[in-house]
Amino acid sequence: MESGKLKVEPKDVDFKKLVDQFLDEVQPIAEEKQLTVYSHFNREPFPRLVSDPRLIRLILNNLFTNAIKYTDRGGRVTLSCKAENGNLLIRIIDTGRGIAKNDLGRIFEPFEQVGAPKRRGGNLSGVGLGLTLVKHVVQALGGKIEVESDLGKGSTFTVTLPLLQAQPFRPAETTPRPADPI
Ligand SMILES: Nc1ncnc2c1ncn2[C@@H]1O[C@H](COP(=O)(O)OP(=O)(O)O)[C@@H](O)[C@H]1O
Ligand SMILES: [Mg+2]
Repeated sequence: MESGKLKVEPKDVDFKKLVDQFLDEVQPIAEEKQLTVYSHFNREPFPRLVSDPRLIRLILNNLFTNAIKYTDRGGRVTLSCKAENGNLLIRIIDTGRGIAKNDLGRIFEPFEQVGAPKRRGGNLSGVGLGLTLVKHVVQALGGKIEVESDLGKGSTFTVTLPLLQAQPFRPAETTPRPADPI
């Protein structure tokens, strides 16, 4: 994937609202699996965020879908959002099956699916491209993604993004200028 192809369109984002809407959307999917969803913001009101809301939703969607997919009934998925040192930290924490230490390095590579074959994707959609896309998008936003996991206990994905995404350069509109006096 070439990073040049991804269009980033930063704007003022009401992050709290974006997250609340997103959680409303995924709540039924979590409920279907009897998973409890928690969310937490370290600051309210949340500080100003200038970023691409479409791409943030894409990141949330992929990480959350994974958390739901790889966590058994009765588990918990937590979305924790922090503003800290000019960064937005989004943490998605699940109490699912976890990822073996040896596999952690591979999961962001295309088509890599790890863990028990039967439970990789099973009948659920997924071909092992979600995290590759997420990493690509996070990098396009000037951020990074990290994962910590304990096999059998759960996983935590942490996305760090700048709160104020640099605006792409747009030439100022040219206003006609009165001719210089001679
Ligand atoms: N929250 C998670 N818990 C356990 N394993 C995970 C989690 N997220 C991703 N993985 C592992 O990483 C692999 C790659 O994830 P992803 O790129 O989203 O592909 P998939 O289409 O399989 O979901 C998954 O197949 C799974 O083995
Ligand atoms: Mg996935």
